[in-house]
Amino acid sequence: MNHRDSTVLITGASSGIGKDFAETLAAQGANLILTARSVDKLDALAGDLRARHSIRTDVIGADLSVPGAAAELVGEIDKRGLDVDFLINNAGFGTHGDLADADPTRISSEVALNVAALTDLTTAYLQLMTARGSGAIINVASTAAFQPVPHMAVYAATKAYVLSLSEALWWEARRNGVRVLALCPGATDTEFFDVVGSDDAAVGARRTTRQVVDTALDALAAGKPSVVDGLLNKVSANSPRFAPRRMVLAIAERAVRPRG
Ligand SMILES: NC(=O)c1ccc[n+]([C@@H]2O[C@H](COP(=O)([O-])OP(=O)(O)OC[C@H]3O[C@@H](n4cnc5c(N)ncnc54)[C@H](OP(=O)(O)O)[C@@H]3O)[C@@H](O)[C@H]2O)c1
Repeated sequence: MNHRDSTVLITGASSGIGKDFAETLAAQGANLILTARSVDKLDALAGDLRARHSIRTDVIGADLSVPGAAAELVGEIDKRGLDVDFLINNAGFGTHGDLADADPTRISSEVALNVAALTDLTTAYLQLMTARGSGAIINVASTAAFQPVPHMAVYAATKAYVLSLSEALWWEARRNGVRVLALCPGATDTEFFDVVGSDDAAVGARRTTRQVVDTALDALAAGKPSVVDGLLNKVSANSPRFAPRRMVLAIAERAVRPRG
């Protein structure tokens, strides 16, 4: 796919996988709309990419866990006269530990960001792209989407939602000129585990953000409904299909069990 001169909206662009999507697509000549809460980081990234690649960059600060924030973001983009050709719903976070011990406000924000804001942005731009007859959406799920994960129950459930939604939309959109892809990374070297608050949530060797982004853009170009990044992650994502559910739960629990 040629992204030159297209306009790409990336949520969670201030660090990790979202930042790497921004760097990779800027190098391919795409114009970027970057959003996250850390406007200082976004401004620095936008300035750097503009200078190096002569692209247009727009920075819009938003806390997408706040109800209505996604609609406000869509309104601000419209006000600036920008048409989004490619949406990357990447912003998200996880929580490690049993739900019985969790901070209810944090859990509510996690669902609002990972599920509600992603759905609102997908709906808004899928409709505009369908009317135009072209466009692309990548929704960042996770290998956690493929089985329930005790100690990360809400996070895994939000990512199962993202995978299910995106694959169904791939089908609905495929004859309308719009591509939809669920991207399922495994453990990746980002600030994700700092936010989670525990390295116990990391399963297997961490992949680089560049590997994840290359996997995603290749799968989008190939027209796939979903992709798992990395061979070992592919094997582990597919294995729950063939095992009894209790065994799946026991294996998932052991992988992220709090240590120490
Ligand atoms: N790293 C992994 O091992 C891994 C594995 C599978 C899936 N994923 C998924 O990959 C995506 C990106 O995560 P990452 O690994 O790159 O982690 P990261 O480095 O922590 O990046 C998360 C991004 O989301 C933004 N964000 C967090 N809360 C937000 C909010 N309330 N409103 C708006 N933006 C918010 C953050 O920016 P601000 O803090 O500036 O708002 C940041 O830009 C997430 O959906 C995550 O679930 C990650």
